[in-house]
Amino acid sequence: MHRKILVTSALPYANGPIHLGHMVEYIQTDIWVRFQRMNGNLCYFVCADDAHGTPIMLRARSENLTPEQLIQHYQEAHEKDFADFNISFDNYHSTHSPENRELAEYIYLQLKKGGHIRRKVINQAYDPGEQIFLPDRFVKGTCPRCGAEDQYGDSCEKCGATYAPSDLKNPVSVLSGLPPEQRESEHLFVCLSNFTDMLQDWVGNEVSQSEARNKLKEWFDVGLADWDISRDAPYFGFQIPEEKDKYFYVWLDAPIGYMASFKNFCDREGIDFDAFWKDEEQTELYNFIGKDILYFHTLFWPAMLHGAGFRRPTDVYSHGFLTVNGKKMSKSRGTFIMARTYLDHLNPEYLRYYYAAKLNEKIEDLDLNLEDFVQRINSDLVGKVVNIASRCAKFISNRFEGRLSTELDHPELYQELADALSSISESYENRAFSKAMRKIMALADKANQYVNDAQPWVIAKDPEQVNRLHNVCTQGINMFRVLVYYLAPVVPDLARRSGEFLNDSMDQFEKAQTPLLDHQISPYVHLMTRIQQKDVDAMIDQSMEKEATLDTSHDNIISIEDFAKIDLRTALIIEASDVEDSNKLIRLKVDLGTETRQVFAGIKGFYSPEELVGRKVVVVRNLKPRKMKFGTSEGMILAAGDDDGLWLIDPGEQVGLGVPVN
Ligand code: 2FM
Ligand code: ZN
Repeated sequence: MHRKILVTSALPYANGPIHLGHMVEYIQTDIWVRFQRMNGNLCYFVCADDAHGTPIMLRARSENLTPEQLIQHYQEAHEKDFADFNISFDNYHSTHSPENRELAEYIYLQLKKGGHIRRKVINQAYDPGEQIFLPDRFVKGTCPRCGAEDQYGDSCEKCGATYAPSDLKNPVSVLSGLPPEQRESEHLFVCLSNFTDMLQDWVGNEVSQSEARNKLKEWFDVGLADWDISRDAPYFGFQIPEEKDKYFYVWLDAPIGYMASFKNFCDREGIDFDAFWKDEEQTELYNFIGKDILYFHTLFWPAMLHGAGFRRPTDVYSHGFLTVNGKKMSKSRGTFIMARTYLDHLNPEYLRYYYAAKLNEKIEDLDLNLEDFVQRINSDLVGKVVNIASRCAKFISNRFEGRLSTELDHPELYQELADALSSISESYENRAFSKAMRKIMALADKANQYVNDAQPWVIAKDPEQVNRLHNVCTQGINMFRVLVYYLAPVVPDLARRSGEFLNDSMDQFEKAQTPLLDHQISPYVHLMTRIQQKDVDAMIDQSMEKEATLDTSHDNIISIEDFAKIDLRTALIIEASDVEDSNKLIRLKVDLGTETRQVFAGIKGFYSPEELVGRKVVVVRNLKPRKMKFGTSEGMILAAGDDDGLWLIDPGEQVGLGVPVN
């Protein structure tokens, strides 16, 4: 009987791109999922974008987008990144979805019915300028313990102290720069302590990672505090039923997003949702997460599920963080690498293999050492695995019309490789991927040793040894095939292309137990190329350039190259009229000397149309024309503004020699 398994990766926030740190988790989960499928189990894998919360609302505001537009943009980008890294989600959804709203409301109302929701008035930092309550991270000030300046409202990066935003000295809102007020507001809480016994029992029986259990023991020892699940308007999220202007805190509906994505999938595919969410015996549920969100997944999440009558996870698997070259990812070093930047330069399977070679079942940080990365891919995947096929395939094609022999040269060696399946499977099952990769590479070494000793390129010259040549190359190809079967969860694209070469499905480990004999294969095409150091360098380079624009974007700094793209011309305003229906715009006709253009300028109220006619202005000539409801704007007039007013930039009189523009 095969197992029925549902697996999730944590939901990325819909306000930023995926980077290689995120990819540790998606690759780890995907390898495990693909392993389960190849092992004959039914394994579904779902994910979604985490679309709610204050940061997303504010980010959208600052980009002049609706939150819906912002999250749609990121969801599309995320899905593309994941697809290009061969992450095999069965479904990818959003927490801002009807399924999630329905499930979040249902779970909350069940908790309420069960007497697990309590009201409390709390004091919270409020930005009087922006008129919103501020999350802890949106307040900065001086650490009350060590005096370090510019620290966040929840903890000090210098001394590690944790505190409430109201404890900071000289606090300011990061949004307006104003000192926050303390305002009272009534919030809703889940009484987590009602679930202490259930959670202790669940942790004792189900949570397998010892680091996680130790952490949980500390939390139980301190006692479980009530969990604040409401936020006041304005907030981007779901309104809480039976309340006025209260929203679910993003972390309430985020994990419910796992269920919502699965629900969306079940409705489409006709799969039984309840079998996976009501029944702890017949099906298994695993959440893969980063170590920073353990609290949410091992306390809040199982409590919510249980309180609402759903099953709890079978286990929660945490991983550590990514370092690059032994250090935290850094924009200035070019090691804060976006998934898309990586894909622009390198094959995703290199990274999948490298992460696999480094990942284990513990909550340990993982280092991407770029020198080791190049060396390891070239020596393992290209040098040891693909090489076996490339050394044997051409003889099969050229000398035996692409047909494998009816017998192996060394059946015992084949058997040894086939027998390793149970040990390799065990390592995969336990997420000891580095161990699995070591076992597979040890077999690859044996296979290469065999080919080196058998020397097909030598026997090929001896007409007496045609049969032996056929059997030796058949042996080589079959050993390559077993290795690729074992590696398939890690490098699915290599497996797929090897399957085309071998005319084999490569979909179930079990099939590798029997060699391919008297079987037609396709001509060999190169399966994987070596990594070039220059591609890695180019990726780092590109990540550094990104940094310049990312890091300084809040200062609106642009590079000289950016500036040089702007084609500035002086022009004469020859017509000006108010745009009816707009309290901002004036329609201008400007003469650039070479042509006249229509421009809509947002200067109504600062200038009257009459005083504009005859003025000289500076025009951006190469701005993309913009269709507006009143007509097309074919450029932009430069003006400088601040809180006090707006001033058109006056080119003054022409100085020096040159060809006058107008
Ligand atoms: O920490 C994060 O990036 C969250 N967006 C993870 C959410 S996981 C799940 F609970 F939705
Ligand atoms: Zn401090």
